[in-house]
Amino acid sequence: MQWHVKRKNEFYYKKAKELGYRSRSAFKLLEIQEKFRIIKRGDRVLDLGAAPGGWSQVAANIVGDNGMIIGVDVQPAPNIGKNFRFILADVTKENSEGKIAKACTTFDVVLSDMSPQTTGIKDIDVGVSNVLAFKSLHLTKIFLKAGGNFACKIFQGKYFVAFLSEAKEYFEKIHSFKPKSSDKASREVYIVCLGLKEHVQKDSE
Ligand SMILES: C[S@@+](CC[C@H](N)C(=O)[O-])C[C@H]1O[C@@H](n2cnc3c(N)ncnc32)[C@H](O)[C@@H]1O
Repeated sequence: MQWHVKRKNEFYYKKAKELGYRSRSAFKLLEIQEKFRIIKRGDRVLDLGAAPGGWSQVAANIVGDNGMIIGVDVQPAPNIGKNFRFILADVTKENSEGKIAKACTTFDVVLSDMSPQTTGIKDIDVGVSNVLAFKSLHLTKIFLKAGGNFACKIFQGKYFVAFLSEAKEYFEKIHSFKPKSSDKASREVYIVCLGLKEHVQKDSE
């Protein structure tokens, strides 16, 4: 790892510890929120790839006691508060939809910070990330209310443009955003999608 990347990681690691966030990733959602205001007080938020819980903490603070966060991950995550519920599930498996639906059937916001356990083999890592991003988009079509917002991590690669054009079909506006707290060298980028179009939910029923 290059020295400046290591130094930046250490900076966010220390800052996360100081502020009580469970991950450095928390700062990426804080930056997304500051720029696009995707989450509001009282919202119900679906957080895909929630472990160890940094994004859920940020979202839980914004939605407050009248809101709710449902976190989903293949790895266990600790409880982060009374407006948080965790579902242990692999989103690529069919039964994940049923597990989410049991907890809540409509959300105001869907977040996905899912990423694969990286192998170091670029084509594999990018490929798996793209599968996870498309799966998030699919779940968004099922669970997001009309007018709702979606933010999703994706590694730039072969299917990146296809992902953007599918997202453009479903949302009023989309933005590609690279937070300052994300490694410059990493291929990850966040696609922030605002305002799910009315027809999308009906079409996926
Ligand atoms: C970068 S971490 C998320 C960090 C989290 N946003 C935070 O702030 O604490 C990526 C997560 O995606 C999860 N993940 C990867 N593949 C998954 C899958 N198929 N289903 C559910 N979660 C998955 C991993 O287990 C990992 O916890």
